[in-house]
Amino acid sequence: MTKGKKLAVLGAGKMGETLISGMLDGGIITRDKVVATAKHSDRLELLKEKYKIAATSNNRKAVKGADIVLLAVKPQAVKELLEEIRGELTRQQVVISVVASVTTAFIERNLNMPIPVVRAMPNTPCLLRAGMTAICKGLYAEDQHLNEAQRMFDSVGRTLILDEKHMDAVTGLSASGPAFIYIIIESLAEAGVKVGLPRTVATELAAQMTQGAARMVLETKEHPALLKDIVTTPAGCTIDGILELEEGKLRVTLIKAVVKATQRAAELLEN
Ligand SMILES: NC(=O)c1ccc[n+]([C@@H]2O[C@H](COP(=O)([O-])OP(=O)(O)OC[C@H]3O[C@@H](n4cnc5c(N)ncnc54)[C@H](OP(=O)(O)O)[C@@H]3O)[C@@H](O)[C@H]2O)c1
Repeated sequence: MTKGKKLAVLGAGKMGETLISGMLDGGIITRDKVVATAKHSDRLELLKEKYKIAATSNNRKAVKGADIVLLAVKPQAVKELLEEIRGELTRQQVVISVVASVTTAFIERNLNMPIPVVRAMPNTPCLLRAGMTAICKGLYAEDQHLNEAQRMFDSVGRTLILDEKHMDAVTGLSASGPAFIYIIIESLAEAGVKVGLPRTVATELAAQMTQGAARMVLETKEHPALLKDIVTTPAGCTIDGILELEEGKLRVTLIKAVVKATQRAAELLEN
């Protein structure tokens, strides 16, 4: 089980902190078994104060004795980090990477050892344990490592096991996606203000409605188009709104946004 295991989070920035916070809340890890690293001392102090965990800028020290090493630095920093820690790692440890664009093969090659590697792509709602994470395993990882990673990410939301070839698409859809949805919520709230609602009311209506619609898709397992049809009374008001959305090319715009983000996800390591 993950509980009781030692976890080193290398690069505890926004995503690293999100996962630490979500996993502590989910009870999958305990404070005394977590060490986080960052570059700057103010960041380290914040992590220590807020979560009562150990924090250091020394990555080599952090991975020593850890059962699970979670990589959460930016893609551009990962090669140097792997070179830094490889002398300290053993094949009994498991490396879990949430770094976009970086493949399990890249990690294995740069660690230059047959070590279990699991690649994961979470998203920021993991903070509220409402995340969506996709995971895949590298050449030397066994099912037990994948299961362990799944338990970790299940504690902060839902987890899917996918082929590694889909990881850039996951990055473009569910990892970047919250930003797209925030823009939609913000725009709906703006619309509410335009039709006379106070902004706080409009934002709450838009956000709770978005959550409700998402739950309808997940929990009824109905096709979204069918759920849309149920709302759309003949000659009612919803169909007039839908006509505007179609004219404004909302569908095409969202498809293009995910395609672009996916393409960019594939390039992040290079530039
Ligand atoms: N943000 C998301 O929604 C999201 C979703 C899925 C995956 N990811 C992935 O998560 C990773 C981190 O993204 P982020 O948004 O969390 O970025 P971030 O906030 O910039 O976090 C990166 C962290 O790495 C630390 N760092 C940099 N160099 C380091 C080193 N050599 N040793 C130890 N720590 C080091 C930084 O420390 P300082 O703070 O001290 O500078 C910072 O805290 C990326 O690879 C990204 O692809 C992010």
